[in-house]
Amino acid sequence: MEITVVGTGYVGLVTGVCFAEVGYNVTCFDIDEQKISTLSKGRCPIYEPGLEEMLKKNLEEGRLHFTADLKSAFATMDFIFITVGTPENEDGSANLGYLEAAVADIGASLTRNAVIVIKSTVPVGTNERIYQMLKEIIPDHIQVKVVSNPEFLREGSGILDTFHADRIVIGTDDREAGSAVASIYEPFGRPNIQTDIRSAELIKYASNAFLATKISFINEVANLCEHTGANIEDVAKGMGMDERIGSQFLKAGIGYGGSCFPKDTKALEKLTDYYNYDFKILRSVIEVNSRQKQQLFLKAKEMFGSLQGKRTAVLGLAFKPHTDDIREAPAIELIAQLFEEQADISVYDPAAVGKVEELFGSRLYYADSVDMAIKGADVVFIMTEWPQITQYDLGRYPLLMREPVLFDGRNCYDLAEAEAAGLTYISVGRRAVNMNQKLENLGFQV
Ligand SMILES: NC(=O)c1ccc[n+]([C@@H]2O[C@H](COP(=O)([O-])OP(=O)(O)OC[C@H]3O[C@@H](n4cnc5c(N)ncnc54)[C@H](O)[C@@H]3O)[C@@H](O)[C@H]2O)c1
Repeated sequence: MEITVVGTGYVGLVTGVCFAEVGYNVTCFDIDEQKISTLSKGRCPIYEPGLEEMLKKNLEEGRLHFTADLKSAFATMDFIFITVGTPENEDGSANLGYLEAAVADIGASLTRNAVIVIKSTVPVGTNERIYQMLKEIIPDHIQVKVVSNPEFLREGSGILDTFHADRIVIGTDDREAGSAVASIYEPFGRPNIQTDIRSAELIKYASNAFLATKISFINEVANLCEHTGANIEDVAKGMGMDERIGSQFLKAGIGYGGSCFPKDTKALEKLTDYYNYDFKILRSVIEVNSRQKQQLFLKAKEMFGSLQGKRTAVLGLAFKPHTDDIREAPAIELIAQLFEEQADISVYDPAAVGKVEELFGSRLYYADSVDMAIKGADVVFIMTEWPQITQYDLGRYPLLMREPVLFDGRNCYDLAEAEAAGLTYISVGRRAVNMNQKLENLGFQV
């Protein structure tokens, strides 16, 4: 069985490598020739735990191939998985330009029957439109089928999630094609659910919107904790012990980011507009999140009045730990705001520095360690809960900083320990520690 995966980003590369790992002959195609050249040498252009090792192994064993050549990618393939990006348009809708370009390439290159499997996250109705598009391009003697197979892996644990997926969603109106796609996943031994195409498309958006809702909900509760004097860690724990609620995604912080939740919630909102349906919860979830992303910056501004000339350190740049992805990362928004304030900014991240450097160039100081980043700082912001940051010794902040003020957007430290370390410590949904009178006046629970 010959499989092509179109797009070698976080989803496509992990999918292609994992398919090769279970024994399929896989060709990964991308229009980015530089990426293909890097991958062909066994090097992984993204940070994803375990991926480079598995990539090298499958390249050496001859099951994995990379190409930027249309003919060798599509001409004789049985299954073509499309995993190209569907980023956000300016109006919040999903940009389907990359998908349509990929489909046009496939249509122009196919020489035999194939099943086109759409893994990219796409609005309801897109798979049907893609099928119509293909029918117009390909010659009559070639038969194509289109199957929706949305992806649920999480960056940072992509391989683990592929091998231990909670479910494989397969949406098609053609039972035979659906079963064929299900059989590709058999070596992974995970449960699958087969639905009509539109339901599969919506399962993906509804799942992400629900997870985003949990995050915005707990962040609202955290904000309420700050007003009432309750502690969000205890509240979330107490809530999560109820099996109907579940403990996952009840971690208060500075809002969700990344390449999926922000764009998918907005694309779903656009879809509801299209159908003239007012999805009230969804609108609130989006609004709460953008407000939450401002919280630490606003608190710092309140505390210092102006941040001009202040030496600031931002710890953690990726939107979450174990990835180098900075798309919609709260840290990036914070850095932009600190710039506007004319603060001095040093940053640290174990994996994402390269991507941040592409954005901000020499305007930031890129530290190799937490020590280097916080040395001489007046204020530190923790934005990503990398182990290198959560396990960093609290005692070193007062030792290395000029003024030990720590804003922790991920609640990494125990309040009593922060208090004992003599830090001014402001986290999310918990009482502020070692605050001065000015902050008490601002309504912080001291
Ligand atoms: N990143 C995630 O964690 C995740 C999880 C689940 C679902 N998804 C969805 O999967 C899709 C892909 O996401 P991603 O994060 O892997 O994207 P990405 O931006 O990391 O990668 C997309 C890749 O597609 C390539 N590409 C663009 N146009 C192409 C074309 N015409 N032909 C061939 N290649 C082309 C790009 O060069 C790039 O390498 C999106 O729809 C996303 O919403 C992503």
